[in-house]
Amino acid sequence: MATATQTIPIEKNVAAYVAKPRPMLINGKWVQAASGKTFPTYNPSTGEILAHVAEGDKEDIDRAVAAARAAFEKGPWRNITPSERGRMMWRFADLLEKHAEEFAQLESLDNGKPIAMARMVDIPTSVDQLRYYAGWATKIEGNTIPISAYGAKYLAYTLREPIGVVGQIIPWNFPLIMATLKLGPALASGCTVVLKPAEQTPLTALMLGELVQEAGIPDGVINIVTGYGETAGAALAAHPDVNKIAFTGSTEVGKLIVHAAAGNLKKVSLELGGKSPNIVFADAEIEGAIPGATNGIFFNSGQVCCAGSRLFVEDKQFDRVVDGVSQLASKIRLGPGMEPTTQMGPVVSEEQMNRVCSYLESGFSEGAKAVVGGGREGNKGYFVKPTVLVNTNEKMKVVREEIFGPVVTVMPFSDVDDLLAKANGTQFGLAAAVWTRDIKKAHRIASELRAGTVWINCYGVLDSAMPFGGYKQSGWGREMGHEMLNLYTEVKSVCTPIS
Ligand code: NAI
Ligand code: MG
Repeated sequence: MATATQTIPIEKNVAAYVAKPRPMLINGKWVQAASGKTFPTYNPSTGEILAHVAEGDKEDIDRAVAAARAAFEKGPWRNITPSERGRMMWRFADLLEKHAEEFAQLESLDNGKPIAMARMVDIPTSVDQLRYYAGWATKIEGNTIPISAYGAKYLAYTLREPIGVVGQIIPWNFPLIMATLKLGPALASGCTVVLKPAEQTPLTALMLGELVQEAGIPDGVINIVTGYGETAGAALAAHPDVNKIAFTGSTEVGKLIVHAAAGNLKKVSLELGGKSPNIVFADAEIEGAIPGATNGIFFNSGQVCCAGSRLFVEDKQFDRVVDGVSQLASKIRLGPGMEPTTQMGPVVSEEQMNRVCSYLESGFSEGAKAVVGGGREGNKGYFVKPTVLVNTNEKMKVVREEIFGPVVTVMPFSDVDDLLAKANGTQFGLAAAVWTRDIKKAHRIASELRAGTVWINCYGVLDSAMPFGGYKQSGWGREMGHEMLNLYTEVKSVCTPIS
């Protein structure tokens, strides 16, 4: 690890926030778990306990769903105009922005990500998500429909109505972005929410809850229940009075959510894993592709669902790209999140570190070779070295399965059809990228790739306005952009004779 520099001093409010066990937000009140239990959340840069948080389970989920139901059916929320909803959301975003530094620090402490990244990416993106959807509150429209039924004259139109009580279960890689990304369209469309943050990183979602009242959002509209997936998460997914579940996380749990949702056939949207191909042709601007591919995998310690984890390089440039990516990888400053010069932090938990390292072991046992990296760094905190693997093939687990850590496999190609078969030869289909100067080739490859997002000559560019989601087992539905509103609304056709 790079020699330690100073960590930044923790803001007073943040220090005070983690000093006390954090309760949950149900019906506008901060409450303990019905069981009285709490659980610890850790600082992955040190492995030490950061804070204690209420351990919600089924009973708390029941209370939160009842509050969300009452707020949806009877509360002031349903009579608040779209314009006022939009203004509340805008105030919510302004408040978040006002407290940006506190949120950035808390995110860095709880998740391990570099404070510089939290400041530059996580907090501004979260603010933008809320503002983007604030604008949509007044723009959710139906249509008028020309109909031909029975040869008579009818007026037919559609209404887009809020779907109702929504359960949102989010992961730990971008804790605050995931919370605001999911809350945005729910609030814009007039739904009410029970949000369950990941047990590894519950703190910024809870602190966001502190701003709800000040933004003017009525009690019960946003409820935040912290707890484990197998208990609180499962209770929310199975709850008979929840109309929709929005989930981001592993494909494995996504399938459990689908089963749990079957009881009342609640609507489900899923944003799951990926194993995204990043394809570099020999005619690409290689000097841009090398840092693009490096950031495409190592950003956020590789804990990104759309990470470019399978790098395919046309054989003529294979050695140069492997060499370039490996050199950049070896220069990444690995360090504690709260050091301002850190470029890559730890992975989120001991469990995740062990998972990533056991993938590396499996790769080595099947013949893969690490050009750089290859395992844990140090023995304090959950650091994994940025790792570039070669000598890999599509039969290996490291090539087939999502590692969700700082590990890229690099494979050469020569024939384009063979390349496409390999790039698409995965259960996933979240994202992909192609690097080439040939404009026809770029768009042809983009059309052939079975993925929800394709980048050309860039990697990982996401925007509140651009739909994001997966083909195949990478998910159901598209989040972000106006597409996401479809996941939070029901369409009602209204029809009447007019002659
Ligand atoms: P996970 O899928 O278990 O956790 C995500 C969320 O689901 C958390 O809030 C968790 O509490 C909840 N959850 C877990 N089990 C549940 C259940 N039975 N019912 C309802 N909710 C449940 O992810 P985990 O175990 O933390 O990470 C495992 C792997 O998942 C990673 O290595 C990575 O491959 C993938 N992952 C993908 C993410 C993405 O952005 N698509 C984010 C996080 C993990
Ligand atoms: Mg899990």
